[in-house]
Amino acid sequence: MSRRSVAVLGATGSVGEATLAVARNHRDRLRISVLAAQGTRPARLAELAREFRPDLVVVASGDGAAALRSELPDTTSLTCGGQALLDAVGTGGLDLVVTAIVGAAGLQPAAAALAAGADLALANKEAMVAAGPVLHRLAAASGASILPVDSEHAAIHQALRAGRPQEVCRLLLTASGGPFLDRDPATLDAVTPAEATAHPTWNMGAKISVDSATLMNKGLELIEASYLFDVAGSRIDIAIHPQSLVHSIVEFCCGNGIAQISANDMQYPIQYALSYPERWPRAAGSASTGLTELLQTTSNLEFRQVDPVLFPAPSLARAALAGGGGAPAALNAANEIAVDAFLSRRVPFTAIVPVVARVLERHDQQAVGGEPESIEEALAWDSWGRRHAREVLAQFGG
Ligand SMILES: NC(=O)c1ccc[n+]([C@@H]2O[C@H](COP(=O)([O-])OP(=O)(O)OC[C@H]3O[C@@H](n4cnc5c(N)ncnc54)[C@H](OP(=O)(O)O)[C@@H]3O)[C@@H](O)[C@H]2O)c1
Repeated sequence: MSRRSVAVLGATGSVGEATLAVARNHRDRLRISVLAAQGTRPARLAELAREFRPDLVVVASGDGAAALRSELPDTTSLTCGGQALLDAVGTGGLDLVVTAIVGAAGLQPAAAALAAGADLALANKEAMVAAGPVLHRLAAASGASILPVDSEHAAIHQALRAGRPQEVCRLLLTASGGPFLDRDPATLDAVTPAEATAHPTWNMGAKISVDSATLMNKGLELIEASYLFDVAGSRIDIAIHPQSLVHSIVEFCCGNGIAQISANDMQYPIQYALSYPERWPRAAGSASTGLTELLQTTSNLEFRQVDPVLFPAPSLARAALAGGGGAPAALNAANEIAVDAFLSRRVPFTAIVPVVARVLERHDQQAVGGEPESIEEALAWDSWGRRHAREVLAQFGG
């Protein structure tokens, strides 16, 4: 059997590590050819390079490279910087690129990989939010596929296989509700980054954990789902499901719904994307109880409505999607800036969503220009959102 040549971008992060755990269990099917990261964890990156012996390691920041060079296997090259990352994925030869970079920083590498004809296993939802239609056009031009890694979108991808596109009625995205689901809203002003990143059911990077606490993550996922599956936002619902076992549901026109269920371990959706259209055996080491045991030890599967007053972020994202133009890219950029300000303790948790809302108001009142037609236009909207978010943050003291 010939092995697929894979690049893992964001190799040292939560999704990157879970991807490499899948690769570890399927060495006969996957060859890790490129490992890339920002470079803030050089020792871990070197360890992974010594284990997987890729042809190339790329670090986006020059600071990380110095510590790394002498730690790599002799057969592994090292390159450094943003252009090096684009060259690594954009010059062909890779079968699959897993994009697990956090934030809109993942947009250009995703576009370069698709343009070069590599299939994309997309965890980096921010890239899809900022430029979904452009990424689809690049994939169509090169014949590459975009496979979702987000557990909700992997669930929908699987459920859609039960019917034809014209038979789909609605999508239902599930959301854990995050760490503050049942918290008194009056106490949210005082929450710390440590509390906001302590997710009840998933172990994730800091930014997505905060997004889960505000439910902006679900807003971004709504936009992602609309672009990925070509379903209007008005036909996508969100339900709180605190157990995070039913990962999403597709309702068909006949009234039958197909739900996907698995343990809340990212190895399941990652392996689905890496193995598609096949299904490979479940890794022995992953949350390895079978579904029967899992359900027998789960006393309840709850589904609740989202409280739009406690969690306004999904409605903002829905409005940005409906508004079109640069609104989704600006929403994403503003959220990245506001989350960063919260994580560095410059503004309270409760400022994040209002900052994004103000930037979207400015977009509706002042912004000119339409849907991004290219990656450059999407990046221009991203910069627009960041600039306005910084101005608005200053009004919040951040
Ligand atoms: N975590 C989850 O369970 C989960 C689930 C679904 C979707 N996602 C999505 O997957 C993405 C990654 O999330 P995560 O939780 O894995 O994040 P994370 O743990 O913070 O990891 C981020 C990774 O990206 C690397 N990175 C950051 N900026 C980069 C740049 N400019 N160039 C190259 N590499 C860069 C980091 O490198 P360093 O280590 O060197 O800093 C790290 O390897 C996000 O878009 C998130 O929304 C995550």
